[in-house]
Amino acid sequence: MILVTGGAGFIGANFVLDWLAQSDGPVLNLDKLTYAGNLENLASLQGDPRHVFVQGDIADGALLQGLLTEHRPRAVVNFAAESHVDRSIHGPEDFIQTNIVGTFRLLEAVRAHWGGLDEAGKAAFRFLHVSTDEVYGSLAATDSAFTEEHRYEPNSPYSASKAASDHLVRAYHHTYGLPVLTTNCSNNYGPYHFPEKLIPLMIVNALAGKPLPVYGDGMQIRDWLYVKDHCSAIRRVLAAGQLGEVYNVGGWNEKPNIEIVQTLCALLDELRPRADGKSYREQISYVKDRPGHDRRYAIDARKLEKELGWKPAETFETGIRKTVQWYLDHPDWVAHVQSGSYRDWVSKQYR
Ligand code: NAD
Ligand code: TYD
Repeated sequence: MILVTGGAGFIGANFVLDWLAQSDGPVLNLDKLTYAGNLENLASLQGDPRHVFVQGDIADGALLQGLLTEHRPRAVVNFAAESHVDRSIHGPEDFIQTNIVGTFRLLEAVRAHWGGLDEAGKAAFRFLHVSTDEVYGSLAATDSAFTEEHRYEPNSPYSASKAASDHLVRAYHHTYGLPVLTTNCSNNYGPYHFPEKLIPLMIVNALAGKPLPVYGDGMQIRDWLYVKDHCSAIRRVLAAGQLGEVYNVGGWNEKPNIEIVQTLCALLDELRPRADGKSYREQISYVKDRPGHDRRYAIDARKLEKELGWKPAETFETGIRKTVQWYLDHPDWVAHVQSGSYRDWVSKQYR
């Protein structure tokens, strides 16, 4: 069994679904079910004995100790986090609590558990921490992409809290010998992405006839990776990564935000044309910029490619088309998220 934290969120849910589709190894899924946690993402696993879901907080040391003792996972994959930059600007506290204190408590519980294993169990155990390229700060237009050696320069409360968690993970390896691995990935997109982030927000707003809010001049650059490629990278690092090492994950897909929005409009014009025959581009609306907005992120993923032989399966063109099609095919999922009724799922399913 592996313990996945945050497995009801966007990337965690994709990871759990892919993991169980590809192996018989059971998953213990610990998720607090904040606004971003949605058990409907995992509805296809209902009745599958390989998936054990526990609602709980990674900062709850007693709960963690009990789960580790009972289930004895051979690995922990830590996705649990507060993840939205805009929310971190409005209210940083939850980010400090989950991303820093929560990671610390998880590390403490895992350290105690790992310390009690026999030598073979200790050698086989892994703690994989899922992090972000945002810890490296912002690049100028001509700078080379972030390597694993790039200095940490986080600029938002979100990225600062993720940077702190990365440092704690590193310290637990150097100080206590905990067998850790860290991945720093670029922006993900794909199914089950909560529609407050750029790509799903633009799709659902376009279909609802609402404005498409582009921050500032829309020329900020992000490096996009299809979520299932991120999941395959994590599986690869978990299987073959060198202990204590950091692996940057990305697909060499740098795009300015406005180009992303225009691509989404063009795909929607093709797949679900507006009733009035006009383009969804008409809905683009430039709005006030995000404070402290990082200008450019770009990942140099050569270490992961060369050392572990990982490569993304999707190009941006194939991944973004699949993503738009997924949102068109899942209006109920979108409606439940927008109405908030996805939260009723927990009480219905786990009464
Ligand atoms: P998300 O916000 O969609 O999901 C986070 C999940 O964690 C939710 O299910 C939430 O309920 C759960 N959670 C939050 N606080 C918790 C707590 N205290 N205890 C237990 N569970 C808790 O986020 P995501 O986009 O899926 O990101 C997952 C991880 O990947 C995060 O660590 C994030 O920093 C990292 N990451 C995200 C991206 C991206 O583009 N989304 C890119 C690189 C790295
Ligand atoms: P986001 O999806 O929030 O990811 P991150 O800030 O972690 O990179 O935003 C991606 C980019 O899109 C970022 O440069 C901010 C921009 N953006 C908009 O222009 N409009 C929006 O409504 C949102 C949510 C984001």
